[in-house]
Amino acid sequence: NRYGNNNDDKTSLASEFQEFERSNIRLKSLLGEGNFGQVWKAEADDLSGHFGATRIVAVKTIRACSAQVSLKDEANIMRKLGSHQNVVTLLGACVESEPHMLIMEYAMRGRLLSLLRAARSATNILPASVPGGRSLAPLSPRTLAGFALDIACGMEYIAGRRIVHRDLAARNVLLDHNGMCKICDFGMSIDLDAERLRKEQEKNAANDLMRHNAQKFKFDFGSRYILQHWQHTFGQGHGPGHGNCSKEHGHGEKKSHHGHDTIGKRHALPIRWMAPESLQYHMFTTETDIWAFGIVLWEIATLGSTPYSQLTGREVIRRVPQGLRPELPKESRHEFYNLMSRCWHKDPHMRPSFAQSRLEITRSLHKWVDDDS
Ligand code: ADE
Repeated sequence: NRYGNNNDDKTSLASEFQEFERSNIRLKSLLGEGNFGQVWKAEADDLSGHFGATRIVAVKTIRACSAQVSLKDEANIMRKLGSHQNVVTLLGACVESEPHMLIMEYAMRGRLLSLLRAARSATNILPASVPGGRSLAPLSPRTLAGFALDIACGMEYIAGRRIVHRDLAARNVLLDHNGMCKICDFGMSIDLDAERLRKEQEKNAANDLMRHNAQKFKFDFGSRYILQHWQHTFGQGHGPGHGNCSKEHGHGEKKSHHGHDTIGKRHALPIRWMAPESLQYHMFTTETDIWAFGIVLWEIATLGSTPYSQLTGREVIRRVPQGLRPELPKESRHEFYNLMSRCWHKDPHMRPSFAQSRLEITRSLHKWVDDDS
């Protein structure tokens, strides 16, 4: 294959992951519903490495009315991610036939956003913590910093595997039985390696087309020469129309090609979590994930507020590139305001990396322990 063995390796790696037998899944209760999909709590028998056993899992499915939506890309990204304690692990997938299903590890304490909001009111009953797990009641500054640390670790791992999440937000962070954060929902994510491969293939196809056209041009040159000769001999009237027509066609092709490129993935965009360069130029990189991480730190600090809640989406799109940033409400905790503001640097390269963020959060946690003792 002309693109080298790399591609073959990846393909064989993906096909190592076997299609799961869907009759081994029993859906139990609906956990959540998005634009196109549903997530169910379910039981699964004979998962890879657990033959003869039944395990509680979370199953993502596509609703019947949106059967054209595929979970294959999401499955491939989760396969590439493999296993990390701060990322929801894919246990199996049914993507060879409809309806697609992703079988994931079940995170029993649900979404971080819901937990943060429940903690606002003392009358809400928070889940009791398990021995050895993180204390979730009450949400102390140390517990909140622990969430931030988990998310930084998970994102450092994801970025290291050259995946851009594109939808990092507190609603897409789950908590397991230990109160440990796990990043989920890769429905909007991009694999930078696959993307580069796709672009290379596109470039090669474009080169092929150019070569093909160059040959055709030789022919066209000849025919135009004949046409001019013909016009010269028999007068005007046949030439320009023909020339314009082929030009129009060329332009049309370019436009439709561009249109295809900019057709977004299937979700509405998470505008309030997006960096200025994403809002303005539709650029998505690890640095735009860092921006979203800053917004997640803000969500944690404000116990689940909505960023720029006074503004409409349209206003956010206009004003964030002009320099608007989320404000830290006075009554909320502010430990990480310095870190989050740096995540919102206009220049993507001036933002801290996930590794750097992890180190800073760890340092603050140690400092608090020292202060306490
Ligand atoms: N909601 C969405 N995904 C989930 C998961 N893996 N576990 C529990 N609840 C979920």
